[in-house]
Amino acid sequence: MSKETFAFPPELIERLARARSVAVLTGAGISAESGVPTFRDPGGLWERFRPEELANVQAFLRNPDLVQRWYAYRRKLVREVEPNPGHYALVELERMVPDFTLITQNVDNLHRRAGSRRVVELHGNLLRSYCIDCGRPADEVDLEAAAEGKPARCPACGGLIRPDVVWFGEMLPEEALAEAYAACERAEVFLSVGTSAVVYPAAGLPLEAKRAGAYVAEINLQPSAIADEMDALLLGKAGEILPALVEAVRQARDAG
Ligand code: APR
Repeated sequence: MSKETFAFPPELIERLARARSVAVLTGAGISAESGVPTFRDPGGLWERFRPEELANVQAFLRNPDLVQRWYAYRRKLVREVEPNPGHYALVELERMVPDFTLITQNVDNLHRRAGSRRVVELHGNLLRSYCIDCGRPADEVDLEAAAEGKPARCPACGGLIRPDVVWFGEMLPEEALAEAYAACERAEVFLSVGTSAVVYPAAGLPLEAKRAGAYVAEINLQPSAIADEMDALLLGKAGEILPALVEAVRQARDAG
């Protein structure tokens, strides 16, 4: 599917072209074309690694060294890749819409690196870490100070250092969630991009926005768990569809 031949639903273009408030939810799919593996696709992280051994607090306390090394591997991976045209298209859209909120489930920091400004990180950020005892933010030096096979510990209190991401069974950051819900209430158009929509509360946000009157569209390689509820479903790669969509909106705006 090449972007120049993509036929967008006219209503989506019209609504985006005149929208004062837009909210976008992204998932791992938007970073796939940058080389960051998704979670549930073939070859995804949860096919190769066991979340119950790596992405919850009990697993961390059982084997902090293993969990820290896994997040070190993921930090290295996301630092070595670049944002893709899908990330940059959302930066463009943010510039075009007065009230724009980018709500992401991703912890890879790629939206910020692309230049997105109003980013709500629902699941945290891989590039931040902190001490589980005193809460002191930890930096790369602290993480690398750990001896081989020994978990990294807080230089201030000796507590274990963990990544600032939301693990299974943990609550999302209250402020981020409140900002996401508020954006759903205001949005005239809501885009859901690159998510399987199986992890809540994030997966409920497009439906929250729809309930509040927004026109909701999904951009995904394959239909997500909530695809049937969408006003528009655009199947394909986010890195191809989003730039074309933003260009079509720009042209509609210029045509006035
Ligand atoms: N363009 C658009 N969509 C894509 C692309 C692409 N290039 N590649 C994959 N996808 C779609 C897949 O079809 C799939 O529906 O992205 C989705 C990725 O789904 P998941 O791997 O389940 O990732 P996500 O929805 O972000 O997971 C939610 O689960 O594991 C936890 O905390 C983790 O934030 C994560 C949450």
